[in-house]
Amino acid sequence: MPAYPEVKTPKALADAPADYRRAVEKIVISHAINELHGARVFDEVAVAFAPTPYWKWLTCRVAMEEYGHHVRFFRLGKEIGVADDAMMPQTSDKRTLSIFDFPLQNWDEFCVIKLVADLAEIIQVEDLLECSYVPLRNAAKATLPEEKFHAKFGEQSVAENIETPEGKKHAQAALDAIFPSMPAFFGSDQSKNNETYRKFGIKFRTNGEMRADYLARVKRIVEDLGLAWAAA
Ligand SMILES: [Fe+2]
Ligand SMILES: [Fe+2]
Repeated sequence: MPAYPEVKTPKALADAPADYRRAVEKIVISHAINELHGARVFDEVAVAFAPTPYWKWLTCRVAMEEYGHHVRFFRLGKEIGVADDAMMPQTSDKRTLSIFDFPLQNWDEFCVIKLVADLAEIIQVEDLLECSYVPLRNAAKATLPEEKFHAKFGEQSVAENIETPEGKKHAQAALDAIFPSMPAFFGSDQSKNNETYRKFGIKFRTNGEMRADYLARVKRIVEDLGLAWAAA
């Protein structure tokens, strides 16, 4: 028995209870804002850092897909009546996630961000795959393989970067600098928003459950690469 009946179209959403509509809007807005902000401050910037034509090519693809994720969620928002401005982050917008405050300065850092931050995004998107609002479920289905590609990009680029002792030192330093902001990516264990999402079958896991899953998965990946797991 589903937690909440499926809502199949924007038209059906317009007829759904106001608090369900508001919950769908909130999650769409959050994805639209953060995909755009991340693309601007990390992925587009990283094209200039990429050391070879091969990595520039793949970084362009990652940047294109992150902008594409914004466009996908922006369209979803538009069709349910969300204002354009509400989905466009402004300078010092409090709605952007704290991970994006990291001042990206080099290629090593970007590769580690793709390694650890895009896995966090994968876990968020996976939780929308059975979402009761079907257009949002479909957006998640389209987004997931691309986020998996970004995380793979992170693994492969970090593996290449750490082939030399010097490179390994840089990657470890980047990981130690970036990782501490990752657990907060999942939000508070007592989040009211998360409780509402679960009540409506929009999402299924608590923030704490997603965070625990993330920490187990990222630890394995980091250790398999031969980097030290320094997370407290
Ligand atoms: Fe994305
Ligand atoms: Fe991504």
